[in-house]
Amino acid sequence: MHPTPALNSRLPKVGTTIFSVMSALAQQHGAVNLGQGFPDFDCDPALVDAVAGAMREGLNQYPPMAGVPVLRQRVADKIEALYGRRYDAETEITITAGATQAILTAILAVVHPGDEVVVLEPCYDSYAPNIELAGGHVVRVPLVPGNFRPDFDRIAAALTPRTRLLIVNSPHNPSATAWTRDEWQRLAELLAPTEVLLVSDEVYEHMVFDGREHVSASSIPALAARAFVVSSFGKTFHVTGWKVGTVAAPAPLTAEFRKVHQFNVFTVNTPVQHGLARFLANPAPYETLPDFYQRKRDRFRAGLAQTRLKLLPSEGSYFQLVDYSAVSELDELGFCRWLTTEIGVAAIPLSVFYEGGFEQRLARLCFAKKDETLDAALQRLARL
Ligand SMILES: Cc1ncc(COP(=O)(O)O)c(C=O)c1O
Repeated sequence: MHPTPALNSRLPKVGTTIFSVMSALAQQHGAVNLGQGFPDFDCDPALVDAVAGAMREGLNQYPPMAGVPVLRQRVADKIEALYGRRYDAETEITITAGATQAILTAILAVVHPGDEVVVLEPCYDSYAPNIELAGGHVVRVPLVPGNFRPDFDRIAAALTPRTRLLIVNSPHNPSATAWTRDEWQRLAELLAPTEVLLVSDEVYEHMVFDGREHVSASSIPALAARAFVVSSFGKTFHVTGWKVGTVAAPAPLTAEFRKVHQFNVFTVNTPVQHGLARFLANPAPYETLPDFYQRKRDRFRAGLAQTRLKLLPSEGSYFQLVDYSAVSELDELGFCRWLTTEIGVAAIPLSVFYEGGFEQRLARLCFAKKDETLDAALQRLARL
C-alpha cells in the first residue's frame, strides 16, 4: 500500500456547489431545471460554421499569447462603439478562457498576501475562493437587502489602506439589478482618492431590459483607469461551454495581467477565436439580445404573476428572483429542494451567494430557456 500524502487544503471551505446538487436532484425527480444559469437552446449556426471554417483552414496551432489579433481588434472596436473608450488592441485587450479565468487571473496579478478585496454580497461563487488563493482577505459588503442596490456608505466604511481591489458585477447575478450611471459615478468619486483597483464583471452586458443602457465601467474614465473590465462570449452568444472571454484594462494593468495569464492558460483556442472574430463583424446578434431575453423575461414573469410568488424586478442578466414567503415557511435551501422534488422545478436558494447563508425567502430562477421549457415550468408552478 502506498498511501497518498496528507494534504492541507488551499480551499478548505469549498465543497460540491449547490448548482451540482440541485441539478442532480432535478434530474433524479424529472424537474424542469431553472437552477442552472445557462441556455438550453443552441447558438447561431453561423457561429458554428465560422469556427468550423477556421478549423478547416488550418487555424489550429497556438495563437499569440494575448489572443488572435483580429479578435482583439474587433473587441476594441466594439467597446469603443458601445462605451466610448478606445482600448489599444495590442496592449490593453486580452482573450481569456471565459470570464472565470479572467477574474482569477486579474486577482492573482494584483492581490498580494494580506491585501483586502471587497466583494458585494450576494455574489458569484468564484470570487471569494479566487481571493483566498491569492492570499487576500475577502471583505464582504452586503447589497441593500430587498432591492440589492449598492450601499455606498458601507462600501466606503469597508475601504482601508490595505484594500487593493473591489469587485463589482452589473448586470448582477443573482439579483438581476443593473447599476445606473449615477451609481457608477458615486463609486468613481469614492475610489478617486484611493489606490483601489476594480474588477468589473460585465458578463451580462448585452442583457439589459426596458430600454436601459448597460453602463460599463469602461465608459467612466476615472473607473476605466483602474479597472479590469471582464466580459464573456459564452453569455453573449449562447456558447457557455466554449469558455472564451475578454479583459480590457489600461496597459500597465494588462501587462501585469498577462504575466499571470501566460503561465496559466498561456492562450485560448485558436479556431474559436477566429470564428468569434468573423461573427463579431455583424453587430446584430448582440444588438438584438436585449429584446430576445426581454421577451423571455416577460413571458416568464407573466406566468409567475399568476402564482403567489412575489417577483422582484429583473433589470438585466437572465435571472429572476422570487419571494416565496406567501407560499412556504421553509428556509431557502429547504424551499428549493421542495420545489424541485414536489413541484418539479429546480431553483437556486439566494442564501448560497452569501458567506453566512443569509435567509430572505428568495430563490433564483433562470429564464435563459426555450419557450417550451419556460411554459412547462410555469405549468408546474401554477400550483403555487
Ligand atoms: C457573474 C458571473 N461572472 C462570471 C461568470 C463566468 O463566465 P464564463 O462562463 O465566461 O467563465 C458567470 C457565469 O455564470 C457569472 O454569472
